[in-house]
Amino acid sequence: MRDTTEDAESPPPAATVPMRIGVASESAKSETRVALSPETVGKVVALGYGVTVQSGAGALAGFEDSAYAEAGAEVVDGPVWDSDIVVMINAPGPEEIGKLRSGSALIAMLAPRFSEERTAALAAQGVTALSMDAVPRISRAQSMDVLSSMANIAGYRAVIEAAHAFGRFFTGQVTAAGKVPPAKVLVAGAGVAGLAAIAAANSLGAVVRATDPRAEVADQVKSLGGEYLAVEVEQEASTDGYAKATSEAYDKRAAEIYSEQAADVDIIVTTALIPGRPAPKLITAADVASMRPGSVIVDMAAAQGGNVEGSVAGEVVTTDHGVTIIGYTDLAARLPAQASQLYGTNVLNLLKLMTPEKDGRLALDLDDTVVRGLTTAHAGEVLWPPPAVSVSAAPAAPQAAAPVEKAPEKERSPLAKALPSVIGAVALFLITAFAPPELAGHLTVFVLAIVIGFYVIGNVHHALHTPLMSVTNAISGIIVVGAILQIGTGGSGLVLGLAAAATLLAFINIVGGFAVTRRMLSMFSRSPGRS
Ligand code: NAI
Repeated sequence: MRDTTEDAESPPPAATVPMRIGVASESAKSETRVALSPETVGKVVALGYGVTVQSGAGALAGFEDSAYAEAGAEVVDGPVWDSDIVVMINAPGPEEIGKLRSGSALIAMLAPRFSEERTAALAAQGVTALSMDAVPRISRAQSMDVLSSMANIAGYRAVIEAAHAFGRFFTGQVTAAGKVPPAKVLVAGAGVAGLAAIAAANSLGAVVRATDPRAEVADQVKSLGGEYLAVEVEQEASTDGYAKATSEAYDKRAAEIYSEQAADVDIIVTTALIPGRPAPKLITAADVASMRPGSVIVDMAAAQGGNVEGSVAGEVVTTDHGVTIIGYTDLAARLPAQASQLYGTNVLNLLKLMTPEKDGRLALDLDDTVVRGLTTAHAGEVLWPPPAVSVSAAPAAPQAAAPVEKAPEKERSPLAKALPSVIGAVALFLITAFAPPELAGHLTVFVLAIVIGFYVIGNVHHALHTPLMSVTNAISGIIVVGAILQIGTGGSGLVLGLAAAATLLAFINIVGGFAVTRRMLSMFSRSPGRS
């Protein structure tokens, strides 16, 4: 492996042979996913790598060996531990780590926060450990963020599991046989999984409410059709894309809201998490007992201790009075084909970042924040934890004002203040008095158009800038026609010059507008063969 940090001064390595990536079968019993789908294998091969897939690795996700072979991989019967780079979903066990080659790389969800021994074992084995679940939450790394892509799938699946166990409509219906009210869903924690759950429940027709200590998610909740239940107690803003621990006052008020909601809603999906801490307990046994029989709770944080009293990781528990508590910890793996496709795309994006020459050789640039963030072991050393990366979805807190002496502003005299208005008024009077009547009319329209245009366009929401561009294109079209007519009538040199300049500028606006619109549309159109 090229270590671009350490080898900057040394001569380039002789070896330029492409590396071989091994796609290993997962040993965890409930694991149905595979680290690379055939589609992503094809793209990894295009980066210059050789790919070996352990036979049957994709079977549970619905990917046949033949599909991998067609995508350019070699399919082998035995394990692939001796590859230059091994890719997996879950961390390998101690025995499997012992089979990895010194100097090789391992890409998997290694959970370094929870297993210091595993990180130490990987370092001792001389393996470069790249932990997909340690990708920093910054915009540039979003395309590699497996926690987000898996949580997105899991949030959707949590609602599907809840709907299945609920056994009633989510949507309200008015039928000849009577009225059915919509189901009410409460989502606790509106991070990636929570937002996916809100969207899924809303699309099934339920009435959705959500809570989260990060007030900045309120707009996202609303945009997905949910109602944001604010816990009106101030919280410390996030600095790393994750929530901070909630205060006692917050927890007290939130507990009241959960108790009120539990008595009212049919479904609760809990996703509350603060990284590195046990899951906060949000729903008490008393809250569960206050729910109507037939209600369902999905505790997505069951693996971290649970947000719900009485939930059991990996199990479905039904209380004495008929409330079902689902504690599945493999929700993403319950949609294995898509989960594998997204995980594989995250891995592919990491490989793209780490293969700048597209020569099939991994370059470890520890000066890159993303690479440093997910490298937990390298060259025999433990590199966990990485230096903190500061990001915030919340607006930056205002800086404490530095005691800088400000120069006193010069007070302008009333005459100086009024001067521009006076000049404007005199100019307008002279123009209306001496110019031909049509020019005065045109000028009035022009000035009014500037004022109205300034206020209308200034208040257009960013999301509407594309339709706005179409309108300006239409206006430019009118300008072009008018200017060409003007040129045709053959007026004075000044008029001709202005008309030609107007035609040119409007033409540039039209062509530019079409080019930008086309680019934006291509982002939403499917390329042939894309699933
Ligand atoms: P995330 O970090 O994006 O979201 C967690 C949310 O919880 C944040 O918005 C945070 O502000 C909120 N939160 C923190 N403390 C809270 C509190 N006291 N009350 C209410 N909200 C609070 O995390 P993500 O990716 O959405 O994952 C959520 C949970 O789902 C995690 O526990 C994760 O392990 C779990 N998960 C479970 C899966 C399964 O199969 N069961 C699969 C994927 C994720």
